[in-house]
Amino acid sequence: MTDSSGTQIIHRFSLVSTAPPDPILGLTEAFLADQRPDKMNLSVGVYKDASGQTPVLDCVKEAERRLLETEKSKGYLPIDGSPEYRQAVQRLIFGEQIDLGRIATLQSPGGTGALRIAASFLASQLPSMRIWASNPTWANHHAVFASEGLPIESYRYLGADKTSLDFDGMIEDLSSNTKPGDAVLLHACCHNPTGIDPTIEQWDSIAQVLADKKLLPLIDFAYQGFGNGLREDSQSISAILRHHDEAVICNSFSKNFGLYGERIGALSFVTADENAAKAVQSQVKRLVRCNYSNPPRHGGAIVATILADDQLTQQWHQELGEMRDRIKRLREQFVSTMQNTGPGHDFSFLLQQRGMFSFSGLNKMQVDQLKADHGIYIVGSGRINVAGMQESKMDFFCDAISQVIAG
Ligand code: LMR
Repeated sequence: MTDSSGTQIIHRFSLVSTAPPDPILGLTEAFLADQRPDKMNLSVGVYKDASGQTPVLDCVKEAERRLLETEKSKGYLPIDGSPEYRQAVQRLIFGEQIDLGRIATLQSPGGTGALRIAASFLASQLPSMRIWASNPTWANHHAVFASEGLPIESYRYLGADKTSLDFDGMIEDLSSNTKPGDAVLLHACCHNPTGIDPTIEQWDSIAQVLADKKLLPLIDFAYQGFGNGLREDSQSISAILRHHDEAVICNSFSKNFGLYGERIGALSFVTADENAAKAVQSQVKRLVRCNYSNPPRHGGAIVATILADDQLTQQWHQELGEMRDRIKRLREQFVSTMQNTGPGHDFSFLLQQRGMFSFSGLNKMQVDQLKADHGIYIVGSGRINVAGMQESKMDFFCDAISQVIAG
């Protein structure tokens, strides 16, 4: 194309092809565009209360009230975040288990931000590393590590019955296919997407295999407190730390504080000694500086305010416990409602699973049919966000599932 003077016009952006929608967040875009009044969004991992709202926790509201009164500045945080926040994160995740001086912690924009900075650090410092992820894993894991050029491989995780852990397959893959220096991506609790976690004895064996093969544990810890409790859910990390001097932990406060849109998480490197921790911290800061410069303040200020105050912390524990218990009740209600929709609709395996998600076992065609015929959105893999179910819509939801199963 040319302009009136005959000069050729180049429209660079006209050559850009359209990317496919995100397999999880893209479904919410489609859901929002859906005009059907009975539609249900059980795709993205967001907790909803009985009225279908994603609530702001009372402890968060109270912390925000206090911040409104006391906050004196909106100035930049340090590149690696607020020191009070970073210490609070370390105490919450690691407790008294190890010398906190060995840990380099960074305040990150959400758990995804932590994963991406971890990937960036590993790619720059340990470029021959491969990342081993469970099959299946969170849909975004592959994209995050691939974006930093790190090859990502899979180890077996979901059993052939699609309802239980293939522990032997997992151990065999980790022992035989990996090479020393690789990293193994593990979900500390509430495995996303399956809801299937190893037992504590199995965690010990996993930690041992990783140590024997000199593999780096790389832990995604996005659901602390959504499984069996704050301390119980970190037993996997304790098992890892019993066998390893080094580990990387990416944690998120989206779910357990309900701070999704505040984008607040942390990245912690457990290192062999304080000198290593300081060096790692300095390198991670360089990566952040040329990426988003320094983290947003508000989410971290909320978490630090709550964790610095005994009463607010108690309130948080209680509200988190209520969310956890309600998710368990929703699992029970779903299983019993499915049983009532017809013989053979046995979903009791959901009762063994933990956290927000479960694998329904529905295939891609059935998932598409749920969307097309009933306005019900779940992830293409068959993953259901149990934490998004509503008691009052359970009959509608289960009827729809039994119809798609019947074909
Ligand atoms: C999910 O898996 O649905 C959540 O972790 C939200 C996300 O960013 O994908």
